[in-house]
Amino acid sequence: MSILVTGGAGYVGSHTVAELVQKGEDVVVIDNLSTGHRNAVLNEWAIPFYQCDIHDTARVMKVMTDHHVDSVVHFAASSLVAESVHDPLKYYANNLGGTRALLDAMVSCDVASIVLSSTAAVYGSPRRVPISEDANKEPLNPYGETKLAIERMLSYAQQAYGISSVSLRYFNAAGAHPTLPIGEDHRPESHLIPIILQVVLGQRDEILIYGDDYETRDGTCIRDYIHVCDLASAHYLAVSHLREGNTGSYAFNLGNGSGFSVREVIDCVRAISEHPVPALVAPRRAGDPAQLVGDASLAQSVLGWKPTRKDLTQIVADAWRWHRTHPDGYQG
Ligand code: UFG
Repeated sequence: MSILVTGGAGYVGSHTVAELVQKGEDVVVIDNLSTGHRNAVLNEWAIPFYQCDIHDTARVMKVMTDHHVDSVVHFAASSLVAESVHDPLKYYANNLGGTRALLDAMVSCDVASIVLSSTAAVYGSPRRVPISEDANKEPLNPYGETKLAIERMLSYAQQAYGISSVSLRYFNAAGAHPTLPIGEDHRPESHLIPIILQVVLGQRDEILIYGDDYETRDGTCIRDYIHVCDLASAHYLAVSHLREGNTGSYAFNLGNGSGFSVREVIDCVRAISEHPVPALVAPRRAGDPAQLVGDASLAQSVLGWKPTRKDLTQIVADAWRWHRTHPDGYQG
């Protein structure tokens, strides 16, 4: 039995592959390398890698059959909020269409469990924080909208074809593997912590703070930063949950339950890197909710998930180690 990881050459995907390999699982990765990096799937893991698009149902089916796949962990998607606003059809095609094609392959190959990389963007601007899973789902952009539609498609697929699923709604993924040479490398980068670290590395002149007039303690947006290795461990637990025979369509928040403002994150990077970080206040970024903090108690009680790298200092220190040693990201 092996686990197929789609998008395993991406940021959360590669850290999840590391976790699954470390747990002794047989893993096979497919990734079309449109945003992923071949070198994020480490040679030392000695696992099969296929450069393959999830729309290629025949090829995906062959991989499933050849490797006796019983579970899928599905990351392959377009995941940039701003891009989704400018090119929504790309998101409907890649995310919704891609997952539909993947489910076709699963139905044909009798693969009956899938763990979905989902997002807090399904909630939109929350009425209350911390956000629990039953909060209103009112996505503010096509990225969140397509992830929510996928979650719903999975629920219908469960009723119709018996495919059970766990959707994991991440808050702000951050950090890097503490010992392996894998980390965050988006091109172009749009996420807060790597951008601040680019300032430290001299690759940018300053960090722009998108709005300081929010109704928060210092006027800047508050987010719940969760270590990428803690996200990875949740995927292993979710696969195990389904393998234990739990049928249904589950959804869990993955966050630490504590929020940090943009200014607090910048201060933390200054302290860890011992480097000045010039910051300028800029206009608000469209579609940014003031506060996103997750209540992950359901994942803790049902999956037994327990984040172990909760401290923002540790998250930033791990990110800094990766960016310091890989200032230009992956080579290849
Ligand atoms: N920010 C800045 N300056 C920057 C970059 C970001 O001030 O140069 C601010 C943003 O305005 C936001 C915070 O830093 O308030 C965090 O921004 P990120 O872009 O790092 O992350 P987001 O909270 O926008 O996005 C995250 C995930 C998305 C997911 C979204 C849910 O990265 O995948 O949460 O709303 F969709």
